[in-house]
Amino acid sequence: MKGIILAGGSGTRLHPATLAVSKQLLPVYDKPMVYYPLSVLMLAGIREVLVISTPTDLGLFERLLKDGGDLGMSFSYAAQAQPNGLAEAFIIAEAFLNGSPASLILGDNIFYGAGLSEVLRSARERTTGCTLFGHRVDDPERYGVAELDAAGNVVNIEEKPAQPKTQIAVTGLYFYDANVTALAKSLRPSARGELEITDLNNLYVRRGACRLEMLQRGMAWLDTGTPGSLLEAGQFVQVLQARQGMQIACLEEIAWRMKYIEAEAFEKLAAAYGNCSYGAYLRGLLTALT
Ligand code: DAU
Repeated sequence: MKGIILAGGSGTRLHPATLAVSKQLLPVYDKPMVYYPLSVLMLAGIREVLVISTPTDLGLFERLLKDGGDLGMSFSYAAQAQPNGLAEAFIIAEAFLNGSPASLILGDNIFYGAGLSEVLRSARERTTGCTLFGHRVDDPERYGVAELDAAGNVVNIEEKPAQPKTQIAVTGLYFYDANVTALAKSLRPSARGELEITDLNNLYVRRGACRLEMLQRGMAWLDTGTPGSLLEAGQFVQVLQARQGMQIACLEEIAWRMKYIEAEAFEKLAAAYGNCSYGAYLRGLLTALT
């Protein structure tokens, strides 16, 4: 399975913070926002990732993440000319995917909680249909909202409904089988002119091939859409990291723990950070884990 991070859009709700820089590069406490979704793909065991962003911002992502080789990963980059909708990612990614199943994560979605790696791995191992992740929220009208039957199967998803039928938001992490690009190509733009991820997901629902995993209360799904929620996400990361003495979304640590890189390569990465607290954390790990 290959991964896609969609990190485009205009970030207008965060202006002026995002006038000159992509939203997904803003810091969430001590690291760029895109580290968090990238860490999710890495924990899922996905090693080939395509980063999609605007033509102007793409170079910045490339400068930050490079080709991924240092992390035992492989990163590629592609531009989305206009914010034509989330489902366009699969059309842009067609050559990259080359018929492979795909996981898409939105570059501004942050997930954290016990058991996440396990949930991700089982989604990756499913070979047919799609897997979505639901999270109960207070403000479902801001999201794709899933309607379930008595057995817990998805019967329909509505994008930002004025009158939501449930409080179950569909989060910005999606796993699809190899049909995804063909299905995305069959979509027509919605009333707001976008190829909607919700329309794509409903194609799977109609085929009886959509599975929804509910993220339970121990699992945090954080919003970064407004200045207030971005600050809160940063505070969440700060509090947890300080209390536990463990980093959230530390790419080097994940690469090492997942055995994408050896101790020697990890040591080099740690040394390269120099004096900052992130570097000190990495060097501390080296002592603790070897
Ligand atoms: O966060 C989960 C929600 O994400 C889902 O519940 C919704 O079903 C889904 O439509 C999406 O809703 P948003 O309102 O968050 O979508 P938004 O248009 O804000 O785009 C999400 C991110 O993707 C945002 O950081 C900008 C980026 N983006 C968006 C579009 C439309 C792109 O990179 N390209 C695009 O074409």
